[in-house]
Amino acid sequence: MKYFIVVNAYIKNKSQIAQAARIEEELKKSGADVQIVKNISLAAIKDGIIVSAESGVGIFLDKDKVAARMLESCGIKLYNSAAAIEVCDDKMLTHIALSQNGIPTPDCVYAPLCYYADAEISEQLVDDVIKKLALPVVAKTCYGSLGAGVSLLRDRTEIEEYEKNNKLIPHFYQKFIGIGGADIRVIVIGGRYVCAMRRINKNDFRSNIEQGGRGDKYEADSELIELCEKTSKVLSLDYCGIDVLTDEDGKRYVCEVNSNAFFAEAERVCGVNIAKKYAEFIISRKNA
Ligand SMILES: Nc1ncnc2c1ncn2[C@@H]1O[C@H](COP(=O)(O)OP(=O)(O)O)[C@@H](O)[C@H]1O
Ligand SMILES: [Mg+2]
Repeated sequence: MKYFIVVNAYIKNKSQIAQAARIEEELKKSGADVQIVKNISLAAIKDGIIVSAESGVGIFLDKDKVAARMLESCGIKLYNSAAAIEVCDDKMLTHIALSQNGIPTPDCVYAPLCYYADAEISEQLVDDVIKKLALPVVAKTCYGSLGAGVSLLRDRTEIEEYEKNNKLIPHFYQKFIGIGGADIRVIVIGGRYVCAMRRINKNDFRSNIEQGGRGDKYEADSELIELCEKTSKVLSLDYCGIDVLTDEDGKRYVCEVNSNAFFAEAERVCGVNIAKKYAEFIISRKNA
């Protein structure tokens, strides 16, 4: 069986390069024929038929839903699947899917799509955000990672300013949970809990490692494991990193789900070979 690891065509982030190399290394150790390919011309439509330039099994580390859908149309099995990647890529779609399946997520208010740069922002929306979510409130772009598209807004003026600057970008508002700067990142492979890391950032409400957060091994209890395994199953993910927030009463909420979570820091602090576990899972599914 041939395996190909798909990375973004314009890859330059060191963590992305390292992630692909680690999975390649572990698949090779298991004797697999594997190569890393960039997401360029992997498939095309020719005479009304989708044709693929690749064959075998794909480990899809990009978020390009078009390429993923086309490869799957050609009968190629992908880890994760195109549908799972699509739902995780759009944070609001993730929250809808989780809410439909009884998984607690922070309260959310979506921002309506806006097509005009000169449109006045909606005061009705601003009222609704404050009424339903209270202050401060978290604003997020639907697409974004590493904490880049996540903002904390403290008053009405900051919401109005955010809305003016982001009205053309799909985004939503979310209830602020806990005290900020802390969450738990949980890695799940094949629907089974692997390890967890507590992330703390003393300088920012975003606990992402890329925003200065620090990770420590976290001993997950059965309730956390159950929540995260259920989350990964609801979203049909083969591999994921789930961010979990905890409020003052100890109630947990799924903050977001990453179909392509970087695992270097979790491997380091938890002492678990995550790349190996993922490679073994993929190989074990060969005849599934
Ligand atoms: N509703 C929230 N309440 C409190 N903190 C939050 C909330 N949403 C996000 N955060 C903080 O911001 C970080 C980044 O948000 P997240 O939705 O995971 O976006 P990203 O995809 O950029 O990682 C989280 O890890 C958490 O520390
Ligand atoms: Mg996150």
